[in-house]
Amino acid sequence: MVAIYPGSFDPITTGHLDLIQRASVLFDKLIVAILRNDEKKPLFSVQERIEMLQESVTGIANVEVASFDGLLVSYAAECGASVIVRGIRAISDYEYELQMALMNRRLGPDIETVFLMAGEAHSFISSRLVKEVIRLGGNIRGLVPPSVEVRLKERLLGEH
Ligand code: PNS
Repeated sequence: MVAIYPGSFDPITTGHLDLIQRASVLFDKLIVAILRNDEKKPLFSVQERIEMLQESVTGIANVEVASFDGLLVSYAAECGASVIVRGIRAISDYEYELQMALMNRRLGPDIETVFLMAGEAHSFISSRLVKEVIRLGGNIRGLVPPSVEVRLKERLLGEH
């Protein structure tokens, strides 16, 4: 069974990585798919986000990294994926996720959305907060993979 884990991943956090590890055990193949959407004004280009994801998932044999635009259900069908994986950290995620899952079910009734709970150690991590903390000089060690921390410091603090 092929599953797709879509998101912005701007950038990937250890919370995302935890979810990728959990999902990779459940499915034969997991496609981590980055949405190409410049309207969200991403900090990292799609190519950079692909690289960071690839660096972080080496060692998990059944995970592939890709990008997509347009409707998620169309891309999932193109990939032969029958499952969409999303992570839920807290109740606050639920409403948005429910809305997307039901819209995706309407658009692609054959594709099921499966929610996985992030490990409690990761449940407060978000790409947005990680960027805010680093911008303000806080320590983000352990919240993103080490290579991502390096890129974030380069991009936001001008460190080389
Ligand atoms: O990490 P994010 O930003 O919460 O991920 C959101 C994402 C990429 C899963 C969502 O925006 C998406 O699937 N966009 C593709 C467009 C689409 O299919 N929209 C209609 C269904 S809700």
